[in-house]
Amino acid sequence: MATKVIKKSDIYSRKSRGDGASGEYRIFNRAKTRGIKIFFSDASTLHEVYRDSAWEEAKCEFKGLKLASKAGLAPKPYKLVLVKEKSYYGGVQYRPAVIMQHIKGHTYDTPDDHNDIDTSDELAALNEKLTNLGIHHGDLHGENAIICHKTQKLMAIDFAFCNITKPKRIRRRRKK
Ligand SMILES: Nc1ncnc2c1ncn2[C@@H]1O[C@H](COP(=O)(O)OP(=O)(O)O)[C@@H](O)[C@H]1O
Ligand SMILES: [Mg+2]
Repeated sequence: MATKVIKKSDIYSRKSRGDGASGEYRIFNRAKTRGIKIFFSDASTLHEVYRDSAWEEAKCEFKGLKLASKAGLAPKPYKLVLVKEKSYYGGVQYRPAVIMQHIKGHTYDTPDDHNDIDTSDELAALNEKLTNLGIHHGDLHGENAIICHKTQKLMAIDFAFCNITKPKRIRRRRKK
């Protein structure tokens, strides 16, 4: 099935909430329940965008979020789309993007008064939980982990470079 193409002007927030290495993050809908991570790419045709490394990153992001969110360790992804916008150089450009659950919270690197958790231990524990599911995040640091204000739960984001293997099986010793 062809990937849905949306216009950049259809995205609710005009400004980016977070700029990172792979792209930008914006609020997707008026109710602020969904966000969209748009990857960097300046592909000017659909043919080109599918061959761009950003497309692979977006697919990886979607897969990682999907698996981790089932265990409550990440925001839920909804759709992998292409964002069409005017190119800086004239013409149009397409960028892969993932629409996901927007978490109202703060990242570890955001100075916040109610952040009194030991970040290093919490991050290590989150990383271990992901690894046990077979998700090797590869880039789990303060800015890639959000504490949800509502649940106070820590969640991982930014799965663009994750590696997924078979989950670790916990072997039980047989009684002799
Ligand atoms: N689901 C989300 N809910 C709330 N904020 C988010 C979400 N995903 C990303 N962000 C914000 O956007 C920033 C950049 O997102 P991230 O996935 O880390 O992209 P990058 O690969 O560019 O670092 C994050 O540090 C965070 O502040
Ligand atoms: Mg990041």
